[in-house]
Amino acid sequence: MIRLTGRARAHSNIALVKYWGKRDSDLFLPMTNSLSLTLDALYTDTSIVFDSELTEDTFTLDQIVQSKEQTEKLTHFLDIIRAKAQITSKANVTSLNFVPTAAGLASSASAYAALIGACADALGWEDDHKSLSKLARRGSGSATRSLFGGFVEWDKGTDDSTSVAIPIDDGQWDIGLIVLVLNNGKKKISSRDGMAHTVATSPFYENWVKTVPSDIKQMKAAIYRKDIEMIGEIAEHNALKMHATMLSANPPFWYFEPATLLAMERIRELRQAGYPAYFTMDAGPNVKIICQKSDMTAIMDELSHFYTNDQMITSAAGPDMRTLTEEEWAESLAKKEGSNEYSH
Ligand code: ADP
Ligand code: DP6
Repeated sequence: MIRLTGRARAHSNIALVKYWGKRDSDLFLPMTNSLSLTLDALYTDTSIVFDSELTEDTFTLDQIVQSKEQTEKLTHFLDIIRAKAQITSKANVTSLNFVPTAAGLASSASAYAALIGACADALGWEDDHKSLSKLARRGSGSATRSLFGGFVEWDKGTDDSTSVAIPIDDGQWDIGLIVLVLNNGKKKISSRDGMAHTVATSPFYENWVKTVPSDIKQMKAAIYRKDIEMIGEIAEHNALKMHATMLSANPPFWYFEPATLLAMERIRELRQAGYPAYFTMDAGPNVKIICQKSDMTAIMDELSHFYTNDQMITSAAGPDMRTLTEEEWAESLAKKEGSNEYSH
């Protein structure tokens, strides 16, 4: 009997220049580069046991055994890993999301980055985050970026071996993000389906692709200068351009809810009150506020007229993916058992 065990933690990330569209949906090669900030507050812990005696893969998320469909998604990813490692053993995967699942808060990003970390730990692979980012990409595109902390660029590359994450800046300065949880239910249209439909039908999609390289270039310059106003302005414009491609798809669709638009207005009001605060939204109704870490308490006070404390998750820049010890894994399990926070 062969049993190989590994555990890892990876943090979710929020794109400031978005990934929206694939040019190869089997290899997960994106149409454009993208750039994100990894978040300290939101993460996934995953443990894997490859066991030669198992007859099929199993997948437990937040103490709930997952459906056949969810497990098949995981098996598809594990098959890529097994082929690379030249093993055939099935696996038991246990995962804990300290991030709301499928609510546009990048649970798939932290999920696949943690899973590849756990696989590498179990299989005794050399800890090379860049190589692991290529494999994480095959689970979910945004997971490519979650191998690294701080600001991370995903280079679209020219093929499977060059489409990788590149760390840009550790983000350990006066910048952070507040996630406004307006609705943490599972979204109706997955990012995967939403982006495929947009690429296939939006007459504006071509223009989206044309404008991203300049957003990336300017965003990197803004990060190097630690210029939060410029970072925020580019991020807002980029997010709205992405959402415009969905509004122009046929049939059109959108992730915004009335509360999303209200939150955008409130963030503009914060700006009028003197705070450098900017919004970005992904494939869900929730809004993320890019702001100075030093302003977070004051901004939360301002927003407390409209939102409860539970709806506002503050985060600084998060770290790289890392392996977990058995003790750390046990602590995570206990933490999850102690609260139903973020679980379904
Ligand atoms: P999100 O906005 O949360 O990233 P997506 O629709 O992109 O939403 O991805 C959610 C999907 O990611 C889930 O339906 C599930 O298949 C997968 N996922 C989420 N958490 C995990 C996890 N911890 N381990 C493996 N897969 C996960
Ligand atoms: C709007 O990475 O979830 O959050 O590659 O199909 O798994 P798949 O999609 P996913 O898409 C993320 C889309 C986004 C923007 C971003 O994170 O860059």
